[in-house]
Amino acid sequence: MTVTHNVDFRAGQNAKDYTVPGLEVSTGHKIAEQLQKQLHDLNELHLTLKHAHWNVEGPNFIGVHEMLDPQIELVRGYADEIAERIVALGVAAVGVPGAIVKNRNHEDYALGFASTIDHLSALDDVYTRVIESYRESIAMTGEVDPISEDILIGHTAELEKFQWFMRAHLER
Ligand SMILES: [Fe+2]
Repeated sequence: MTVTHNVDFRAGQNAKDYTVPGLEVSTGHKIAEQLQKQLHDLNELHLTLKHAHWNVEGPNFIGVHEMLDPQIELVRGYADEIAERIVALGVAAVGVPGAIVKNRNHEDYALGFASTIDHLSALDDVYTRVIESYRESIAMTGEVDPISEDILIGHTAELEKFQWFMRAHLER
């Protein structure tokens, strides 16, 4: 079967003729294609978080600067976990930057040097978008693949917690 990736990634083999046990091959590959959305989001997110880490300034600089690094490590780990699930499902995981840009419907993160409040407000919006997409994938995978669903649920809980950390800075 041919997987029509929602990405232009055609050099070399895209998909195996297997998936994880207990799923139809076409179902497993469809889930992998869904998970690719999270992989793109996560790869963009850890780059964006570093960008904010470098350029944030003003009151509470050090708190925000240092708060971002552990989250970046977490998100990088999540990208790895999602990518390896995609491959276990029998589909090539796409990690190239061009595919991220090509398949997204939003603009690049817009801020350069900016205050902690401005960066956290912008990142709050980024998290809302990323988490909404996670919830769509939870709904999609939940019906057929509780293993992928479980990975997504664990990630979403931590992403929502970090969004709360950022929102707490924005109060008052
Ligand atoms: Fe740093």
